[in-house]
Amino acid sequence: MSTVLDTRPLDLVADFPAIPAGWAYLDTAATAQKPKPVIDAIDRAYRETYATVHRGVYQRSADMTLAYEAARARVASFLNAGSPDEIVFVRGATEAINLVAQSWGVAHLKAGDRVLLSMLEHHSNIVPWQLLRDRTGIEIDVCPLTEDGRIDLDAAEAMLTERHKLVAFGHVSNVLGSIVDARRAAEIAHRVGAKLLLDGCQAVPRIAVDVAALGCDFYAFSGHKLYGPTGIGVLWARPDILDSMPPWQGGGSMIDRVSFERTTYAPPPGRFEAGTPHIVGALGLHAAIDYVEAIGLDAIHAHETALVRTAREALSGLNSVRLFGPEDSAGIVSFAVEGVHPHDVGTILDEGQVAIRAGHHCAQPLMETLGVPATARASFGVYNSAADVAALVKGIERVTRIFG
Ligand SMILES: Cc1ncc(COP(=O)(O)O)c(C=O)c1O
Repeated sequence: MSTVLDTRPLDLVADFPAIPAGWAYLDTAATAQKPKPVIDAIDRAYRETYATVHRGVYQRSADMTLAYEAARARVASFLNAGSPDEIVFVRGATEAINLVAQSWGVAHLKAGDRVLLSMLEHHSNIVPWQLLRDRTGIEIDVCPLTEDGRIDLDAAEAMLTERHKLVAFGHVSNVLGSIVDARRAAEIAHRVGAKLLLDGCQAVPRIAVDVAALGCDFYAFSGHKLYGPTGIGVLWARPDILDSMPPWQGGGSMIDRVSFERTTYAPPPGRFEAGTPHIVGALGLHAAIDYVEAIGLDAIHAHETALVRTAREALSGLNSVRLFGPEDSAGIVSFAVEGVHPHDVGTILDEGQVAIRAGHHCAQPLMETLGVPATARASFGVYNSAADVAALVKGIERVTRIFG
């Protein structure tokens, strides 16, 4: 870890043309703004180098295939995966988790098998398992949280049995910013023979992720939360697991040989990428990973946790504000202002050029646990500064004045 970078705030807002001066964009957990290198990579691809991949016999297509596959290799090195063949391109984390449920889940789980989720999961790590439950008769268990909003791994350990085949946890909560101890989660899952899936949507833009060191079995994330384009995401899985998974969608590119009698399938990852892929999305994701890694995830994490600390300190000084989640949350602060609906908080903040998210954040079971219908959420990115936190706090003070 670089001590210089760890203590100096990042000053990168000039890289982001869609952030005008004076606008505090605090909704990065929903989607990150895009830096110029990502916009340029997408623009260059459509203006200069565009062609299809994997099929063309002409040079342009061969070059685009190389660029598309280079993006896959870049994702593999970003996650420290063993090989690019372990990287499946999908539309986003939602599709990645549905793929695991509908392919691995249908092939390997049967009635009476159990899946352990946690109370803080995003709907995209709940509903696919309910759809699988409807199809196969599996059972779903829900791990509770600690007082400060972390997945309670002691409780998880006590709940796990030989009937559990999968543990599926959010690596970083999109509401609370809490980070799960993924290594321990892998250990306790593997002890009973279960696999561990991590929903890494909020983790990859905020902390360094090494799937080999974590010991997980599946890892899912979306490109657009990592400063890349929408419509592209990643499923990583251990190669032996990918090999054991049947296709879940049929079409072009995913086959070996097709006849009306019988079709054989391509090996992974092609087997899971039916149809023309999001070619330029993959190139944009490549540029986004280059951008993020040039800054360094340790530096990003230090920058965002410092902003979280400042925000939490300032907001906890306001009597009417209730803060959710742990002190050391990764880049995300959820809060409620007593007697004011979060949507009103969001609207008043918007009048002061501060953009936050207000709602259930696709985590309705978590809202129920917190005892609120919704929260206000400020989430930080590499472009935010102490001035953005000050604008947030000023806006909340205005909210409390308006609502008395
Ligand atoms: C923790 C988490 N998981 C999954 C998702 C779903 O991501 P996407 O909508 O990009 O598929 C999100 C998006 O908000 C998220 O924050």
